[in-house]
Amino acid sequence: MSAAEPSDVFAEIGTERLVQLVAAFYRQIPTDDVLGPLYPPEDLQGAEERLRDFLLFRVGGHPRYLETRGHPRLRMRHAPFRISKKERDRWVDLMDVALTSLDSPPHATEVLRRFLHETATFLINTPD
Ligand code: HEM
Repeated sequence: MSAAEPSDVFAEIGTERLVQLVAAFYRQIPTDDVLGPLYPPEDLQGAEERLRDFLLFRVGGHPRYLETRGHPRLRMRHAPFRISKKERDRWVDLMDVALTSLDSPPHATEVLRRFLHETATFLINTPD
């Protein structure tokens, strides 16, 4: 995902699996005691679309995210939410459950997993 990584994620995982990944992640949100309260209950579908479009764009798929939302600026967009290690770890846990259910090529899955974990750490904005 970074310049040093083989950028095979999109080629190996593809649009359909990335859509499934984000759907599997968001299915867990409404009942999650830590993350559930952070997400807009009336616009979970929209939130799912935003994360899905971001990931597709970020791994070299369709650039719809850029077209509709502009530059990601993820730190800025997460500033309204209190994200400590607790929220970060739960986000990563739910994403790992979704990744495990994916049945995608192991190498590309690990590259994607590392990117998601590192980005989640980067988004911590509150001490414990
Ligand atoms: C560290 C834990 C995280 C928490 C607690 C968190 C929480 C949230 C919340 C509450 C939203 C608003 C939902 C909405 O779109 O209406 C959001 C949006 C978003 N998140 Fe996260 N997030 C986390 C990590 C990540 C990571 C790791 C990524 C990317 C790999 C990511 C990408 C996004 C994107 C693209 C949006 C939509 C931004 C926009 O266009 O407005 N988030 N997140």
